[in-house]
Amino acid sequence: MRRAEYRRLDPNDETWWRNAVFYQVYVRSFADANGDGIGDLEGVRSRLGYLELLGVDALWLTPFFRSPMVDHGYDVSDPRDVDPLFGDLETVDRLVADAHQRGLRIIIDLVPNHTSDRHEWFQAAIAAAPGSPERDRYLFRDGLGFGGSRPPNNWTSTFGGPAWTRLPPSPNDAGQWYLHLFAPEQPDLNWENPEVAADLARTLRFWLDRGVDGFRIDVAHGMAKPAGLPDMPEPIRTCPGLLESGVVDPRFDADGVHDIHRMIRKVLDEYPARVAIGEIWIRDDAAFARYIRPDELHMGFNFRLLAADFDADSVRAAIEHSLLAVRDSPAPATWTISNHDAVRPVTRYGGGQVGLARARAMALVQLALPGPVYLYNGDELGLPNVELPDWALQDPVWERSGRTDRGRDGCRVPLPWEGSTAPYGFSATPGTWLPMPSNWAGITVEAQLEEPTSTLSLYRQAVELRQEHHAVTCTEVEWYGAPPGCLAFRHKGGGLVCALNASGAPVSLPPGQVLLASGPLLPGSDALPANTAVWLGE
Ligand code: NOJ
Ligand code: CA
Repeated sequence: MRRAEYRRLDPNDETWWRNAVFYQVYVRSFADANGDGIGDLEGVRSRLGYLELLGVDALWLTPFFRSPMVDHGYDVSDPRDVDPLFGDLETVDRLVADAHQRGLRIIIDLVPNHTSDRHEWFQAAIAAAPGSPERDRYLFRDGLGFGGSRPPNNWTSTFGGPAWTRLPPSPNDAGQWYLHLFAPEQPDLNWENPEVAADLARTLRFWLDRGVDGFRIDVAHGMAKPAGLPDMPEPIRTCPGLLESGVVDPRFDADGVHDIHRMIRKVLDEYPARVAIGEIWIRDDAAFARYIRPDELHMGFNFRLLAADFDADSVRAAIEHSLLAVRDSPAPATWTISNHDAVRPVTRYGGGQVGLARARAMALVQLALPGPVYLYNGDELGLPNVELPDWALQDPVWERSGRTDRGRDGCRVPLPWEGSTAPYGFSATPGTWLPMPSNWAGITVEAQLEEPTSTLSLYRQAVELRQEHHAVTCTEVEWYGAPPGCLAFRHKGGGLVCALNASGAPVSLPPGQVLLASGPLLPGSDALPANTAVWLGE
């Protein structure tokens, strides 16, 4: 595997992230150390050896802050403390120190668009009167119509239903409404209020001082709201969904958001080698590009590849647009096909063996591209989305959508580590927070680790080969001619060639030595089978 010296971290390396493989740990579902059925930080620490073996460079930990867990941690009641469910501040310190020891960097989630309704600010706001400084930290408005009984505008929550909730009338308030782009338990902050920015800066420094290497910024295209909160032309939901070019959606991408990113960047720049990546669900290249100007985010999640079908033209267009969006910026393009908000790739690309073959092929495509790649825990095992029974569903999307959208639980089922029955070493209790399927014995980490053709082995080899073949400074690709339904590219100026066959039939392999294939190639044959990708050397 990787040479030891590569693993030694240089705390002043300002470019470590430019080509890194990040691994998203959905903390609730990764590993449970204390046997309550819910993953925790000590669980992550206990499995660092696995992540080192996988060869990734950095972890992104989903929120572990104090939270009533209505949106599983994206409803933060204290951003500078750890929820007891996940551990405590000492656990974070130990985890960061041990990860660094093993050459792994850690970025953590930051949730600046909203707080929990249990946050002390929101509690103070509902106890205070309309027009008070307490209410001004959030977006409270009087309602429209007779007695203020209609919401202040027509905005919808991305989780379904209206984006406004009315407070019950009280002696000093006829019942104002407050804005929440997500669940009612996630009130949106008022970013016009300077206290909000000051508090975020405090949170940033709090974690930077504890040694984290950076942040993933939740809803980085939210936060700022347009003056007057104008109606949406068409009440749409997006969860998650790329904001289409040309669609006017005043809930997101307001101009003021860029000042917030400049503020965040200024704080990060006080520390060596720290980074921020924003969650930016925007399709338009020019609008996306504004977030990664030199004084804003170091990188942005471009979700075009995640949103692309398993189709050569769609994949190529996603890659070209992602590269175009960063062309005039110091930021690299970022690549991902999965996260805790999206249907697992195996299922999205068709399910079953075909879906798995395609997900493996797309893993090679994304890992061949120039710039950082974000893997989502469990994809390296080829986990499918799980069809959970109604009783097990926990995502607020299920109820908020009037039980029409089953939500995101299916991609959040805990990871199977070992053994032949649930919970497969994830926890000491079978009562895991989401039930685990009974047929996962063959896809546990243990079952795949020594199996050369397993999805885990494919990921390990790909991550290792990528380190050997990747030019850190490259930001462009060269395309080769390819048969219909196929594509082939390499980094501009050299490196390995990646060829994908997304057509329904075998095609001829491009010339070169096969370094790695996402599926079986017939011995002695020069064919690249359908639903397969290869890496070729010169
Ligand atoms: C994006 C996060 O990825 C998602 O899980 C969460 O529900 C929303 N932001 C709200 O914080
Ligand atoms: Ca636990």
